[in-house]
Amino acid sequence: MLIAVEGIDGSGKTTIVRFLVEELRKRGYDVVAFKEPTDSEYGKRIRQILKERKVSPEEELELFIKDREFNVRNNILPALKGGKVVIMDRYYYSTIAYQGALGLDVERIKMLNEQFPKPDLVVILDVSPETALKRIKAKRRPDRFEDVEYLRKVREIFLSLKNNVVVVDAERDIEEVKRDVLKVVIEHLGESFNKDAKL
Ligand code: TYD
Repeated sequence: MLIAVEGIDGSGKTTIVRFLVEELRKRGYDVVAFKEPTDSEYGKRIRQILKERKVSPEEELELFIKDREFNVRNNILPALKGGKVVIMDRYYYSTIAYQGALGLDVERIKMLNEQFPKPDLVVILDVSPETALKRIKAKRRPDRFEDVEYLRKVREIFLSLKNNVVVVDAERDIEEVKRDVLKVVIEHLGESFNKDAKL
C-alpha cells in the first residue's frame, strides 16, 4: 500500500505524516515514511536551487525526476516489496502541481512520472495560500516557492487531480484534520485487508 500526502507549503503535511506513522504503528501496521525532495545528491541540489532560483523550470523538473528515481529504487520499491505500508511526504503530484505552476505542460509532467509506482491513495491537504503563508511566516521567512500567486496556481493544479485522490480541508484546527485523514487512511487499509482475507 502506497499513500501520498500532498498539499501546498504550510498545509501541515509533515505533521500529518508523522501522526499517521504513529497511529498506524499503534494499530500494528508495518509502516515507513519517505520524504521528497530526498537527502540524496539530487535532493541536495534541489534544495540549493530552490534558494538561488538560477535554473530553468525544465532543469528543475529533471532534478525532481532524478531524485524520485533514486527514491523509488532505493527506498519505495524495497519497502513495498517487503509488504510495508509506505507513506510519502510529497510525491509526483507535487511535481505536477509545482512545476506545472511554473508553466511546464501538466500532461507532459504526468507522462514523465508514469514510470513510478502509482499510489493507492493520495491525500491532498487543502488550504488557502493566505492561511498557508500565515502559518509559514509564524515559523520562518518564506522561500521562493512561497508567494500567494504561485501557491494559488499550485493549489489549483492539486485540486484538478483526480485518480485515487481524497481532498481534506486543512484550513481547520490540526486535530480535526488529523482525525479526518486517519479515518480516510484506515478505511482504505481496511478495504485492502478485507480483500486479502477473502483469498
Ligand atoms: P518541502 O516538502 O516543503 O521541504 P521542506 O520540508 O524542506 O521545506 O519541499 C520543498 C519544496 O520543493 C516545496 O516548496 C515544494 C517543492 N517541490 C517541487 O517543486 N516539486 C516536487 O516534485 C517536489 C517533491 C517538491
